[in-house]
Amino acid sequence: MKQKAKKESVFKKLKPFMGNKKALLPISLFCSLISAISSIFPFYFVWKISKEVFVKGNNISTENVMHYAWMVVLFAFIGIILYYISLMLSHLLAFEVEIGLKKSGFEKTLNMPLGFFNEKSSGKIRKVINDGAAQTHVFLAHQLPDITGTIITPLMILVIFFAFDWRLGLAALIPVIFSFIVMSTMNNANGRKLQKKYFDSLEEMSSESVEYVRSIPVVKTFGQSVKSFTRFYDSINNYRDLVIMFNKLWKNPFSLYTILIESTAFFLIPASILLINSSGDTAAVISNFILYILVAPLLGMVMMKSMYFNQQKDIANQSIDRFNELFVYSEINYPKNSVGFDDQTIEFKNVSFSYDGKNDVLNNINFKVEKGKTLALVGQSGSGKTTIARLLARFWDVKEGEILIGGKNVKDYSKEDLMRNISFVFQNADLFKTSLRENISFGRDDISDDDIENALIKSRSKQIIDNLESGLDTVIGKKGTYLSGGEKQRIALARAFIKDAPIVLLDEATAFTDPENEHLIQDALKDLSKGKTTIMIAHRMTTVKDADNIAVVDEGEIVEMGSHEELMNENGIYKKMWDEYQSSITWNIKKGA
Ligand SMILES: Nc1ncnc2c1ncn2[C@@H]1O[C@H](COP(=O)(O)OP(=O)(O)OP(=O)(O)O)[C@@H](O)[C@H]1O
Ligand SMILES: [Mg+2]
Repeated sequence: MKQKAKKESVFKKLKPFMGNKKALLPISLFCSLISAISSIFPFYFVWKISKEVFVKGNNISTENVMHYAWMVVLFAFIGIILYYISLMLSHLLAFEVEIGLKKSGFEKTLNMPLGFFNEKSSGKIRKVINDGAAQTHVFLAHQLPDITGTIITPLMILVIFFAFDWRLGLAALIPVIFSFIVMSTMNNANGRKLQKKYFDSLEEMSSESVEYVRSIPVVKTFGQSVKSFTRFYDSINNYRDLVIMFNKLWKNPFSLYTILIESTAFFLIPASILLINSSGDTAAVISNFILYILVAPLLGMVMMKSMYFNQQKDIANQSIDRFNELFVYSEINYPKNSVGFDDQTIEFKNVSFSYDGKNDVLNNINFKVEKGKTLALVGQSGSGKTTIARLLARFWDVKEGEILIGGKNVKDYSKEDLMRNISFVFQNADLFKTSLRENISFGRDDISDDDIENALIKSRSKQIIDNLESGLDTVIGKKGTYLSGGEKQRIALARAFIKDAPIVLLDEATAFTDPENEHLIQDALKDLSKGKTTIMIAHRMTTVKDADNIAVVDEGEIVEMGSHEELMNENGIYKKMWDEYQSSITWNIKKGA
């Protein structure tokens, strides 16, 4: 399947993005074809002029010369104008494709299952879409008008070479044939592989550098140098080695190629002298010589263009492949007709799950949360708590077992039903770079200011808004408006209050620096889960204590389950966690005193 996709021409792959401008492709090609043909004619008329000058000598007809000169101007003009039109059309087409790719990338991204975003960083998604748009633009806008030229011009030159004087044609062709051989040794499978390696390493270096810039605060804090960033450092070295190898490998053939392609005179002059000596027709030989010496370098130019064209085609091809491959993701199919959402009891039955298809992250998970009750999940970092919550919202589908809401499998609910009825407050709440109002109301315009005010009060975030000069209209990230992790989570809670879904999944942020924030969040969490079926992932034992049921997750399994009192009596992991937590509080108080 993948191989088949590779064989498809780049134009075919780009067609779906051309919208209603598909017709521009053949028109642009046609204009450039006529342009390429017209551009050869001036040389013919220069030949006519030289013939007039050399053959007729003193009887030269200025009228004829003027006529030919005007023809030179005319055909050159037609060639330039048509090339220009072709270029304009190819740009229009390229912009359409650029917009089409971005739109389609955006739509596809919107329709991806939630797990997709967990695996692919937003940076990667953005890069693949933007690169796809930019690189296909370069190819379509700038290379399209050259395609026909790279085919038709060499053919016309060959015709000229043999039509006027085949002996001179042969002489002019010798360096071309040799340069062609040299070029094909550069452009062979090995060369192409190397070229791909070169672009890959360039891309790796650029993505590693982004990673490096992102981590500069850490690098600075620990007084490290670029060398400590081995991946970035290695990618630079790798790139340097490749460039050196590339240069060494290409130095000789490329020099030879340049010499050969520029050396037509070296072959043509001796051939002309020989011809003059043997035939004695100096005038005819010289006028042919002028034509050949003018036309031959065109071949070199066209060959360079075709090399560049192939390179850009490969780049465009690879970027569109990357674009298409990005969205090949195990899709989650939602039924069109929902079974209807009427009860919110949550049940996990023998659920096992693995991210990579090999190592189980969850193993035989069983629990039930009755309608309106709260289940708290506790356990070490990496034990699988967040994964449990995500599976309920169908970020991914389970490998074994089933997850039921109201006795019905989550797979039987429509996407809308699931999304509408589940609120998810993420561990690392991230806000959109828009106004706080939009962040809280989620862009819905049926939310009144009173609703927002209420949500702010309940989520304990009114103070945050009141402290900002522009209040709800403050745009996150602009003019240095940043919120702390705890503040962000409170805003995310306000969002959940607005949504008011009957099922709430709360993934408590791991660390809040100030106890004030922590206290406010816990109060807000309590309010949010009131009367809702809740799964709460808690890192603070005090949050957990009041939950109806507590499950201790350890290495993907539920090892203890019960109320606070029951688990304390069990004297197992939970009790140990509780005792540790208590002593850490005492330690903090002592330290503070
Ligand atoms: N998208 C993912 N792809 C592959 N593995 C993942 C992914 N997300 C989590 N994991 C792995 O699954 C395991 C469980 O992760 P999970 O996030 O559920 O833990 P957690 O209990 O929520 O931890 P924490 O308390 O630190 O939030 C970990 O080993 C983690 O490395
Ligand atoms: Mg987690």
